[in-house]
Formats: sequence, C-alpha cells, structure tokens
Amino acid sequence: ATTLGASAAAKGRYFGTAVAANHLGESAYASTLDTEFTMVTPENEMKWDAVEASRNSFNFGSADQIVSHAQGKGMKLRGHTLVWHSQLPGWVSGLGATDLRSAMNNHINQVMAHYKGKIYAWDVVNEAFQDGSSGARRSSPFQDKLGNGFIEEAFRTARAADSGAKLCYNDYNTDGQNAKSNAVYAMVKDFKQRGVPIDCVGFQSHFNSNSPVPSDYQANLQRFADLGVDVQITELDIEGSGSAQAASYTKVVNACLAVTRCNGITVWGIPDKYSWRSSGTPLLFDDNYGKKPAYTAVLAALGGT
Ligand code: G3I
Repeated sequence: ATTLGASAAAKGRYFGTAVAANHLGESAYASTLDTEFTMVTPENEMKWDAVEASRNSFNFGSADQIVSHAQGKGMKLRGHTLVWHSQLPGWVSGLGATDLRSAMNNHINQVMAHYKGKIYAWDVVNEAFQDGSSGARRSSPFQDKLGNGFIEEAFRTARAADSGAKLCYNDYNTDGQNAKSNAVYAMVKDFKQRGVPIDCVGFQSHFNSNSPVPSDYQANLQRFADLGVDVQITELDIEGSGSAQAASYTKVVNACLAVTRCNGITVWGIPDKYSWRSSGTPLLFDDNYGKKPAYTAVLAALGGT
C-alpha cells in the first residue's frame, strides 16, 4: 500500500493523527489527513474547557466539526479526554467533593452520550500519575478531593454511558519500564483483577533527546498487553530530523507491530508547523506537507512503499 493508513490496515492496525478543527479549511491539511490517516483524535476540542466551560452547559461545535469530517471520510475517532487536571475550567476546581463527584460523572455521561456509537476508544482518564520515582498519583482536584477511587469511578461511569467504546487510561513518560509505568501497571492489574472496566492503555510517546524511545518500549507495551488490555500509541512525536528521527520512528512502529494487542499508532499532528512543540520538527510532514524521511521510514516499517 502507498499510504500510512492503508499500510497499517494491511497489518491489522490503524494509523491516526491529532486534528485541530481550525485547520480543516486548509486544503493541503485536509487532503493529507484524508489521504494518509484512518483514525482521528481531536487535539483540544473534546477537552473539558472546550465542551463544558460552564457547568452543565455543553458546546460541542468544534468537536462535532472534526467528528463529521472524520466520519464523512470513513475514519475512526479517539475521544480525548474526559477526566484530566489540565484544560479544566476554574469552576470545576472550585467545587467541594460531593459536587465535584457529580460534575465528573455528569461530564462523562453528557459527553459520551453525545458521541455514543461514534468513538472507537475514549481516553477516560489522562495523566493521573506523577513523574519521577515515587509512583504516586498527581495532585489534581479529582485526586485531592475524591481520592484514589476517582479513576475507578470514572471508568465505571464511562462503561455505563457507552458500552461500545474501548475505555483507555492514557499517560506520558510511561513508555518504558520505570516507576511511573510500574504504578500504572499496578493499577491496571488491580482493575482487571477486580473487574473494573478498562480496555486499553494509551502510551503518549512524546520523545526528544532527553526522553528518547526507550530500549524496553516493546517489552513495556507487551507487559501491559499481557494483563489483558489493548495498547495504543496515542500522541507520538519525536524531536529531530533526517535519518536519526526516521530510525526512532521505525523503532516505534516495529514495537507496535510486534505486540499483537497494539491496535495502532496516532501521531500528534500532521505538519511540523502545527505541532504543540513551539519549535522543532517532530512530525512526519514538513511545513509544506512534504513527506520527511521519517514518513518514508514509517511507511516502510508498515510494509508500504
Ligand atoms: O483556545 C485558546 C484560544 O482561545 C486563545 O486565544 C489561545 C491563546 O493562548 O489559546 C488557545 O488555547 C490553546 C489550546 O492549545 C488550543 O490551541 C492553549 O493556550 C494551549 O495551551 C493548548 O495547548 C494544547 C495542550 O495540549 C494543552 O495542554 C496543545 O494544543 C495540545 O497539543 C496539547 O496536547 C496534549 C494532550 O492533550 C495530552 N498529552 C500531552 C499533549 C501535549 O502537551
């Protein structure tokens, strides 16, 4: 096959990208999206501050624009994200425990109901663990007021809201085996043992020179898969250029292909100019939508030409 999406499909995987609604009107952006990708994650449009800026008043306009574009082109969607400490409106942080619990569950219920049947996988909870060696939970309104049980509660609420979507826990710096990924691993193991509904773990995979593709990346994906969940590479980008960047992308693709339960790969944007990293060139397409060496390497690793 000659595109990322078709080549991945031949391997039983999807190949996705983050999409921003405000770029869909740019013809090169839309045509690259439509040609190359089979999965879409709204980059910001489904986050709490975007859809529920004030309590129980929902605005799905920008997210719906992305959903209808994707559906019109036969692409699937990852929902990102329901419960996260960042891009959280101030009114949520100001609530007491009882109100916060009902606001969290209402948010999950309303957003998932709006998109019921349209989402392949939801990032139900995003980035709930700290970096570093502690393996502890990150401080957030949810953690601080509801305690450790908030994650389990969010997943149970999500399953009831749309039983057709895969429910994922998503995080960064969990790509190799380390204290943070060990803590997530222990949580997922506990959830599986107790029957808490979780279907997948997302590995964001934001890599740079300080945080390169770990040598045990594949082993880490595999140990999660062995717990009985799917694994997905959810926000891939790799700082750098040329053949070094291409080689790092190849490692990531090979790791996913080697793990049966790795469903697919999503890169966090299309051309470098729209990356969340304000400087640098971490993506597969240059600013004119030219295919970079990293693109060619990914296509080849997927078995395409
Ligand atoms: O929407 C406002 C706009 O109204 C305002 O005028 C403008 C001025 O600053 O800001 C706009 O919001 C920005 C938003 O992106 C939409 O463009 C925010 O400032 C900016 O902080 C926000 O950045 C996003 C970031 O998440 C926020 O945490 C990035 O685009 C997005 O790529 C990034 O994605 C995250 C994943 O969700 C989770 N994992 C890490 C990943 C990278 O940080």
